[in-house]
Amino acid sequence: MKREQPVIRTTDDGSKTLYLNNLNEPYHSLYGAVSESRHIFLEAGFSTMVDKACSITIFEMGFGTGLNAFLTFLEARKRKKGKVHYVAVEAWPIEEDLFTRLDYPAFVNDQDAADIFLKMHTCPWDIPYFISDQFVLNKIHSPFEELTLKELSFDLVYYDAFAPDLQPELWSEAVFEKLFRAMRPGGILVTYSARGAVKRAMQMAGFVVEALPGPAGKREISRALRPAVHHHSH
Ligand SMILES: C[S@@+](CC[C@H](N)C(=O)[O-])C[C@H]1O[C@@H](n2cnc3c(N)ncnc32)[C@H](O)[C@@H]1O
Repeated sequence: MKREQPVIRTTDDGSKTLYLNNLNEPYHSLYGAVSESRHIFLEAGFSTMVDKACSITIFEMGFGTGLNAFLTFLEARKRKKGKVHYVAVEAWPIEEDLFTRLDYPAFVNDQDAADIFLKMHTCPWDIPYFISDQFVLNKIHSPFEELTLKELSFDLVYYDAFAPDLQPELWSEAVFEKLFRAMRPGGILVTYSARGAVKRAMQMAGFVVEALPGPAGKREISRALRPAVHHHSH
């Protein structure tokens, strides 16, 4: 599928995002890209999982701007302990003029952040790449639909597809079943959508779904747990 180039937009917290004009679809919340990513994927996701295990394997739906991967790297480094294996699928990788103009390294203002962000974008696709001793990035250039995920592989899923109105096929029970099987018991999936139909699809796939308060401009987000023990009904 051919797609138009996204354009840069500045969001309410001052950080930038990408925007698809023809589809009217932003890559992040226009109320704040970095705030949203921190609130949903870092705080409701990574921070709650990272203390439980010494190493963690993450799957991201939609590498996009690389913001979630980048913030996860910085958080893991700050916490020091534990290795992170980060697998991200992306059907439409963005071009260099875009990721440089997003300016995320300047926004987070961390040591050597610019090198890290650049490395995450320029490292090869479809092979695991050591961004640091602690952090392995495996970007997969493929549509999610064509990807086979190994069972019981992931502790944490960042589910960050475009909105259900735009991509209903990516928020179906079948998709959540595929993710459920790919996750380890006790694993969680976090996403910005708190829509009833999405939560029901996740429940039908076997997840225990919880609504959490959202970031600015959004009432609720969802966190889905793959239960550690399977209860059989008699
Ligand atoms: C809402 S954006 C979020 C991107 C990213 N997480 C970020 O923080 O920039 C959704 C991303 O999913 C990608 N995407 C959409 N449909 C896809 C598909 N079927 N397979 C793989 N990637 C897809 C888009 O190109 C886009 O980069």
